[in-house]
Amino acid sequence: MVKPAEREKASMLRLLMEIIKDPDRKSLLTITKDLFSLGIYYRQFPRHYFSRYLFKKGKSNIKDYFPDDFLYYGIKPLLNDKEWRDVLENKLFFHLYYSQLNVPMPRVLMHNSKTVYICDGKPTEVSNYEEFVLLLNGLFEREPTLDSMIIKKIYWSFGGDKVYKISRSQVSNNRSLLTELYSEVKKSGFLFQETVIQHAALSKLNPFSLNTIRFDTFIDKDGRVDVISGYIRMSINKNYVDNICLGGCQVGIDLRTGRLKKEGYSTLSYYGVRILKSHPVTETIFEEVVIPYFDEAKELVLEAASLIPGLRIVGWDVAISESGPILIEGNSDYSITGNDLSEGGYRTNPVFRKVLDEVKDLRSSRYKYPWL
Ligand SMILES: Nc1ncnc2c1ncn2[C@@H]1O[C@H](COP(=O)(O)OP(=O)(O)O)[C@@H](O)[C@H]1O
Ligand SMILES: [Mg+2]
Repeated sequence: MVKPAEREKASMLRLLMEIIKDPDRKSLLTITKDLFSLGIYYRQFPRHYFSRYLFKKGKSNIKDYFPDDFLYYGIKPLLNDKEWRDVLENKLFFHLYYSQLNVPMPRVLMHNSKTVYICDGKPTEVSNYEEFVLLLNGLFEREPTLDSMIIKKIYWSFGGDKVYKISRSQVSNNRSLLTELYSEVKKSGFLFQETVIQHAALSKLNPFSLNTIRFDTFIDKDGRVDVISGYIRMSINKNYVDNICLGGCQVGIDLRTGRLKKEGYSTLSYYGVRILKSHPVTETIFEEVVIPYFDEAKELVLEAASLIPGLRIVGWDVAISESGPILIEGNSDYSITGNDLSEGGYRTNPVFRKVLDEVKDLRSSRYKYPWL
C-alpha cells in the first residue's frame, strides 16, 4: 500500500512537472526570482505562490496575495468570539437562529440525533433500516411537490463532506445509497432539508450543482458592516455540491455589477494548472454571466452579519432562486485563501485593508507577522 506521505510526494512531483510543461507559465528564472523575493518578504517558503497561480504569465502583483497560514490563523481567531461560533457551525442552531429572524433559508423537514428523529414537532424512534426507509417514504408522501432532499451533518461538517442528496425514487430503488446514508445518519445528527431549486441563470453555469455565492463580510470597530468580496462556486463535473475541495471551481464576482470575472479556478490537485474561462461541461463563458438578485443577495448577507455581532468576519453561502436569494450557510472559520485568489490579491481590497489595519494594531500579530 502507498503511504499518504509518499502519495503527497508523488502528487507534488506531478504538479511540478505540470508547471514546468505549462506553456502559460513565467520563465523559470522569473519564477525563481518571485519565490526568492516573496520568501524574503514573508520570511517563509511562499507555498501560496502555487495555489494562487502566481507562476502564470501576467500575474505580476505577487505581493498582493497573502500566505495561507496568515489567512487561516492570523485573522479569524482575533475577530470572532469562540462562544458564538456554534450558532453557525451547528447547522441546526444556524437554522433555528436565522429562520426566527425571518431570513430566507431552505425549509427543514426533519432532524435526528442518532436513533431519534424529530419530525412535525414529535420524536420518533427508528431502530432499523426498514423503519428509516418507511420514515423517508412518509416524508415524501406528505410533501408531494418535493422531488429530492438534502441531508447534511449538523455539527462541524464542512467542505461538502457528509452532504447527501436523495430523490423520491431513490428511496425505494437505490438500496446501496440508502444503506450508506442510514449507517451515517444513525451515528450522529443530520438535518433533512428541501432541495433548493436555483435560478435558470445559475443553472446555465452548471445545472447539476447548487451554485452558491461565497460572500465574506466584516464588522469594523465602529459597527459598520461591509461585504468584503464575493465569488461563485460550482462543480466542474456533475456533482450536486459546489464545494471547491470536492471538485468545484470558483469565479470572482464584480461586487458593483454582479458580473462574473474572466477567470475561474479549481484546485491544482484536482484540475491541474489550467485556468478556466468557461465551464468545462456547459461551456458557459464566465464573463458573460450576471448574477440575478445580486443587490438583494448582498443585502441578505449584510443583514445576516449584523445579526451576529460576536462574529466580525464570516463567509456566507448564498443560493439564488427564481424568487430571490436564500441563505444556505455561514462559516466562522471560512477559507479566506479563496477570496484572496478570486479577488486577485486581497491586499488591494479596501474593506480587507480595514481588517489588516485592525489586526496590525495587535502586538501578537506584529510579533508573528512582522511584514504586516
Ligand atoms: N438545501 C440545499 N439544496 C440544494 N443544494 C444544497 C442545499 N444545501 C446545500 N447544498 C449544496 O451543498 C453544498 C454544501 O452545503 P453546506 O450547507 O454549505 O455544507 P458545508 O458546510 O459542507 O459546506 C452547498 O454549497 C450547495 O452546493
Ligand atoms: Mg458551505
